[in-house]
Amino acid sequence: MAVGILLVGGFGTRLMPLTKNTPKPMLTVAGLPVTEHQLAMARNAGITTVVLATSYLSELFIPYFGDGSKWGMKLIYAVEKEPLGTGGAIANAARFLDTNEPIVVFNGDVLSSHNLSEQIRQHQENKADVTLHLTSVDDARAYGCVPTDSDGRVIAFLEKMENPVTNTINAGCYIFSPEIVTSIPRETVISVEREVFPQLISNHGRLFGFIDDSYWLDIGTPKALLKGSTDLVKGLADSSALTLADVASHTNEKLIMSAATVDPTAVIDLGSCIGAGAVVGAGAHISGSIVEKGVHVGAGAVVSDSFVTTGAVIAENSTIRAAFVTKDEILSIPE
Ligand code: GTP
Repeated sequence: MAVGILLVGGFGTRLMPLTKNTPKPMLTVAGLPVTEHQLAMARNAGITTVVLATSYLSELFIPYFGDGSKWGMKLIYAVEKEPLGTGGAIANAARFLDTNEPIVVFNGDVLSSHNLSEQIRQHQENKADVTLHLTSVDDARAYGCVPTDSDGRVIAFLEKMENPVTNTINAGCYIFSPEIVTSIPRETVISVEREVFPQLISNHGRLFGFIDDSYWLDIGTPKALLKGSTDLVKGLADSSALTLADVASHTNEKLIMSAATVDPTAVIDLGSCIGAGAVVGAGAHISGSIVEKGVHVGAGAVVSDSFVTTGAVIAENSTIRAAFVTKDEILSIPE
């Protein structure tokens, strides 16, 4: 049985101001925190013990996730006083795992339907040091790319470049053998992508790629965050977390969480979700948007392609397009 580490301690600067008071993994997509969708995926692959590697706004995870028993899991919290980078975070979190089992590490900002059980199986079959989920993208220029040989061995870990040598990229879910995790220096800022993986490759470590092109999305940018949510609502992406959640109604057009009050004359469409306890007034039109719990949308307001965070109030008859709305500010989402 594998165990998990979820990396949820980054600053999420690309999603400011949403991430001013909420860490990126706690932002809701399709009515639930990103982390909740990821935990459901881990649980489906038989992983029941997960360390949340937290740092920035670490105190916001425990009140929601507690000890994990609600999800049939054991959740442990590792807190870095200052972010230690992805490698340092893994080393710090592993202190809480006394295991000989494979350690599955998830970037905390990814929605993925890849076959994690098969990734773990291949890792064991290959007696690998690390097995990385790789996914293919049309344009790899925005990503570090990861070429593999005919046996699936990773041959390089390349930074972003103008002419990528392959379109397979690091998808942010790694299986580590426990000995490799133990070899990462503790209490040191270190990156797996920039330091640990390239060093392992130059030392002829057994790094394998697991190429799986199922639904995959890094929700770290404003547009991707909205796309992740609308894809989940429309059924273009799967999440079993939704089957356990308090959902009042769900169609391909909209997801309404329980205890939301939506006036019957309001129109909610294009994959929008309305969080628990939100109020949407008469004649309002919400499309392609995320409205978090407790938001108040006034009568006649139009909200499209926007993220409205908990506590925000949208005035009657106002129009909000392609914006982040918090209780303090409205910021246009850059093109
Ligand atoms: P940006 O600031 O917008 O780049 O976002 P980010 O801070 O989340 O960085 P990035 O997207 O590169 O991080 C990938 C994943 O690793 C995210 O889930 C982060 O929460 C997590 N992460 C990044 N740095 C750290 C860290 O120092 N400690 C921990 N625990 N997690 C981290």
